Amino acid sequence: MKGLILAGGTGSRLRPLTYTGAKQLIPVANRPILFYAIDALVEAGITDIGMIIGDTGDEVREAVGDGSQFGAQVTFISQPRPLGLAHAVKVARDFLRDAPFLMFLGDNLLRGGVKDLVDRFAGGRYAASILLTQVPDPTQFGVAVVENERVVKLVEKPKTPPSNLALVGVYCFSSAIHEAVDGLKPSWRGEYEITDAIQQLIDWGLPVDSARVQGWWKDTGRPEDVLDANRLILEDLNGQVQGLVDADSEIAGRVVIEAGAQITRSVVRGPVSIASGAVIVDSYIGPYTAVGPKVQISGTEIENSVILADSVIEDIDVRIDQTLIGRGVTVRGARKRPRALRLVLGDQSRVEV
Ligand code: DAU
Repeated sequence: MKGLILAGGTGSRLRPLTYTGAKQLIPVANRPILFYAIDALVEAGITDIGMIIGDTGDEVREAVGDGSQFGAQVTFISQPRPLGLAHAVKVARDFLRDAPFLMFLGDNLLRGGVKDLVDRFAGGRYAASILLTQVPDPTQFGVAVVENERVVKLVEKPKTPPSNLALVGVYCFSSAIHEAVDGLKPSWRGEYEITDAIQQLIDWGLPVDSARVQGWWKDTGRPEDVLDANRLILEDLNGQVQGLVDADSEIAGRVVIEAGAQITRSVVRGPVSIASGAVIVDSYIGPYTAVGPKVQISGTEIENSVILADSVIEDIDVRIDQTLIGRGVTVRGARKRPRALRLVLGDQSRVEV
């Protein structure tokens, strides 16, 4: 079985972070979201992986390499424009040929893996098998109606959802999907929807199976989802301190401090991940925080947050909580009078003071 991971698209809901980078490379617990997807496929025995890339393709190529760091072989496939998930299958046709394949959306995180779905699919004669989970607001997703695990109807982002079972962005397909994709027309949002292609398989009378998510699933489309995902991944963290911690610091709970990071006169309470080159001085780093490479934090308290590489946070006199900070950002407390907020914020930034 082959794999197809989608790492193209625009990431508009994650702006401003995605103005400068691929949404699938935003790190949770200091590892790009996309890497967890590759791990999930490899764990299910799928090592021949095609990866769809778009405008941010160079960055994705550089991070993933040839796939050998994951024990996989990755072939990059350029999608000229993000015209939809079914369009991605179409541009991958030469790579996929007539092999059965597992498709995984590169901005989705899944705890529990895909092995069960793959085994079920391999054990039956299905045209497709999809992974589902119950969600509170199905209008944001593809929604399935299921009878005894057999999928009988699918709708993409319905205004009036026929059930609360969302498609989680993990699909197994036989080669029958290609004919369904070839016959598609763009949806109301102008995309070639994989949901419509699967509905076509059902309309042809072909069997479409479903399985439920075991564990948890997170679509990391919005900033709050990235914070949630970070929390969920850190929940399983195994602590390991390799960086330098001075005698005046206190480390409690499960904390990863990578080699090359330095902690001085600070308190770190896990689960926390601190990447190489980070420098923490006179600060408190609280639970569910990921501090990226070469970040400098001094005179600041912070928790439940994700700070990306090369940012500087200094002398903030209220605790920073539930915050997502991009690369190379500076946040500095004003020491001079008159005290005032002095802000330089990119488009679509969000600040609560
Ligand atoms: O997250 C689950 C949902 O994912 C499903 O419930 C929906 O049925 C499915 O259509 C999809 O909806 P989204 O609107 O969330 O998809 P999004 O546009 O965010 O794209 C998902 C991933 O695929 C993302 O990593 C970007 C990539 N992509 C997307 C498009 C449209 C591509 O590589 N190429 C594309 O053309």
